[in-house]
Amino acid sequence: MTRSPTTPSATPGSPVTVITGGSSGIGAATAAELIQRGHRIVVTGRDKAKLDRVVAELQHDRDDLVILAAPGDACDPLAVATAIDLAQRSYGRLDNVVANAGFSTHDSLLDGDPDRWQDMLLTNVLGPMVLIQAALPALRATRGRIVLIGSVAGLKNSAGNVYSVTKWAVTGLAENTRLLVTGDGIGVTLVAPGRVATPFWQRDGANTMPAGPALSDHDVAASVSWALDQPLGVDINTVVIRPIGQAV
Ligand SMILES: NC(=O)c1ccc[n+]([C@@H]2O[C@H](COP(=O)([O-])OP(=O)(O)OC[C@H]3O[C@@H](n4cnc5c(N)ncnc54)[C@H](OP(=O)(O)O)[C@@H]3O)[C@@H](O)[C@H]2O)c1
Repeated sequence: MTRSPTTPSATPGSPVTVITGGSSGIGAATAAELIQRGHRIVVTGRDKAKLDRVVAELQHDRDDLVILAAPGDACDPLAVATAIDLAQRSYGRLDNVVANAGFSTHDSLLDGDPDRWQDMLLTNVLGPMVLIQAALPALRATRGRIVLIGSVAGLKNSAGNVYSVTKWAVTGLAENTRLLVTGDGIGVTLVAPGRVATPFWQRDGANTMPAGPALSDHDVAASVSWALDQPLGVDINTVVIRPIGQAV
């Protein structure tokens, strides 16, 4: 991605944002959107090569440092603490975290594989909890913001949907966290997308996305950016975003 003539340069005062799962889909699009808005970014993800490719593309030939990779698992407390530390050491501050890393096993309570559910539960539920815990001291200092990527599946039930259970937990975590930190001046936003066309829907080489309209990852990134860019003292609590035409 080349820098548009209007892209602001990062300065020591530019906001700093850590995004988990920044190597693909919504996380990578959010990194790109926030860099366009002058943020400095740390992205995480398990696949180092994939992460490095996104970082190289977004850093491109800029003179100012705008993005760094912190490879690691979103539910490993040490890896998450390392990402937070990298942001603070490299950029001197931390303003926002986006708990985005997540996936679906795309199966059912009826016939799904509990081993795969375990990974999904850890990534989708423990991951955001670990991120929030690691980031809170720094966010208290900057009166920063937390965005959790939930899902419409975390607001509505569908029969036997195990992924949906993990996203209901994220919905609860968002309000639970808001109650904990609003007195510290920290904002908490749940962004709950409907269907988004990303690699999320790939399973065993096949695309499992149901037929019908879908958002782009950039549509969701724009909502994340909007929530982060609110004026001081304003906290957007829940954003539900669907493509027009998605009925459920
Ligand atoms: N696509 C949709 O329709 C949709 C709708 C509602 C909500 N969401 C949510 O949006 C978020 C982003 O999904 P996406 O659609 O952008 O999917 P995606 O393109 O598959 O991106 C998922 C990202 O998370 C990372 N990730 C997965 N497990 C991880 C782990 N344990 N530790 C660290 N990173 C991990 C992946 O990198 P590695 O695999 O290399 O780790 C990748 O960077 C997820 O929370 C998902 O549940 C998606």
